[in-house]
Amino acid sequence: MKPIQVGLLGIGVVGSGTFNVLARNQEEIKRRAGRGIEITMVADLNVARAQELVGPGVTVVSDARAVLANPDIDIVIELIGGYGIAKTLVLEAIAAGKHVVTANKALLAVHGTEIFAAASAKGVMVAFEAAVAGGIPIIKALREGLTANRIQWIAGIINGTTNFILSEMRDKGLDFAVVLKEAQRLGYAEADPTFDIEGVDAAHKATLMSAIAFGVPVQFDKAYIEGITKLGAADIKYAEQLGYRIKLLGITKRRQGDATKGTTDGIELRVHPCLIPAKRLIANVEGAMNAVVVQGDAVGTTLYYGKGAGSEPTASAVIADLVDITRLHTADAAHRVPHLAFQPDAMSNLPVLPMSEVVTSYYLRLRVADETGVLAKVTGILAEAGISIDAVLQREADEVVKDIAASGQVPQTDVIILTHDCVEARMNAAIALMQALPSVLEPITRIRKEELA
Ligand code: HSE
Repeated sequence: MKPIQVGLLGIGVVGSGTFNVLARNQEEIKRRAGRGIEITMVADLNVARAQELVGPGVTVVSDARAVLANPDIDIVIELIGGYGIAKTLVLEAIAAGKHVVTANKALLAVHGTEIFAAASAKGVMVAFEAAVAGGIPIIKALREGLTANRIQWIAGIINGTTNFILSEMRDKGLDFAVVLKEAQRLGYAEADPTFDIEGVDAAHKATLMSAIAFGVPVQFDKAYIEGITKLGAADIKYAEQLGYRIKLLGITKRRQGDATKGTTDGIELRVHPCLIPAKRLIANVEGAMNAVVVQGDAVGTTLYYGKGAGSEPTASAVIADLVDITRLHTADAAHRVPHLAFQPDAMSNLPVLPMSEVVTSYYLRLRVADETGVLAKVTGILAEAGISIDAVLQREADEVVKDIAASGQVPQTDVIILTHDCVEARMNAAIALMQALPSVLEPITRIRKEELA
């Protein structure tokens, strides 16, 4: 059988990796797919550079629509990124009857509902393994490998840039801004790192995992997003002393409501820095690596680890999708794996809960005047709010006092409190009361905590 023909839109880092791996492993891939898979056409604005990368046997054009118009192309790989022209081209490719493979998490997290509906109506597949956690086959695992399970929660380190920064902060005891500069110098962070450090990239990925895990529509606009820019070296150190590591986690959970606690059914979808016990495997995922923990009712806890970015790791995921499509494109559309794992007519309308309704535990750090009765006032506010304390750590006062004494200010100390679970709205109210105490000298640091047990 003649090879299936693929058109590639955008040949950057991932595109060239895809081209190279397909060429290098073509025999192995053909044995798996049942026929060859060839990129025969590439669209890229830099035609000369693209032609140099793929050699003379491949047609290179600057106009992506020439790829969509080619009747010999069965599959289009979109590696342009963003929601602009990429969205238009994906929808046009679908309208032209092409299957689509994309690594574009932003596009699918925001416009997935429209794109998957268009693909279903046209009877084509939109595959996106590369959109979440790069080379880790987490989409395949959630959609197929874990299909017997009622998935309970997912927690993932799904942004390598921020995990690299947090690892460096912990290793070297440095603050965020210092490490970010170094990460940019070494090429681990983009010149404009906003999407990574503010948690947006992780939220795109968490949104996709949430939809597949629970059979709900993609709802990026409902995700709670908090990045790592406000984390200080001190909090990482204190967390360590308490037996925890701080990681930026993408979390999605199915929450069973409890009328006695005033909680309702819903889905949690959130990205924020999080204390996790240092003894958990995921707490030991360092540098730019990614890892995702999935809890299913039948399988228990499973962990997926690997490279979340990079040329060939991401190409590995793109090509897995190409092989899937090659195997399935002649099958009746109704017999394919649904885009979001659940049949389109069986999707749930379980709401994404506002952050104020999320239940979790907390790390609090208060810089206070080292005076009699301060701790009693702080713990009194928590007790009044019905928030139970798990542990308290007071930093050795004289460490802080040394420089303070010279400045003529009152002696200060850091009080660190770990709490048990409580609803976020209640914690917000308690923090506001503690913040108003004259002895609390700086804005209170609050970091959420997950035991991942
Ligand atoms: N910028 C992402 C990261 C990789 O740092 O993990 C692509 O999703």
